[in-house]
Amino acid sequence: SFEVVAEQSGVTVQVGENESIADALKAAGVKVKVSCEQGTCGTCLCDVIEGTPEHRDVYLTEEEKEDNDQITLCCSRSLSPRLVLDI
Ligand code: FES
Repeated sequence: SFEVVAEQSGVTVQVGENESIADALKAAGVKVKVSCEQGTCGTCLCDVIEGTPEHRDVYLTEEEKEDNDQITLCCSRSLSPRLVLDI
C-alpha cells in the first residue's frame, strides 16, 4: 500500500492493494470525478505535487507519463511510498 495526500482537501489516505486511489479518496469524502474507470478517458486526471506515479492508463502519452506531474486516479498507482496530489 501507499499513502496519498489530497492537499487541497486536507485529507490523507492509505491506498490498499485492492482499491484505486479514486476509491480511497472518495471513501474519505474527497470529490473525485471518474467516468471510464479504465484509464482511457482522462476524466480523473489530477496534478501530482510530489511523489512518483506508477502509470497504468492509456490516456497520457509516454512523454506525459515521464513528466510524472499528472496521474489518472482511477487506475494508476504509486512507485513512491507517498503521493501528494493537487485535489
Ligand atoms: Fe477515465 Fe480515469 S475515469 S481515465
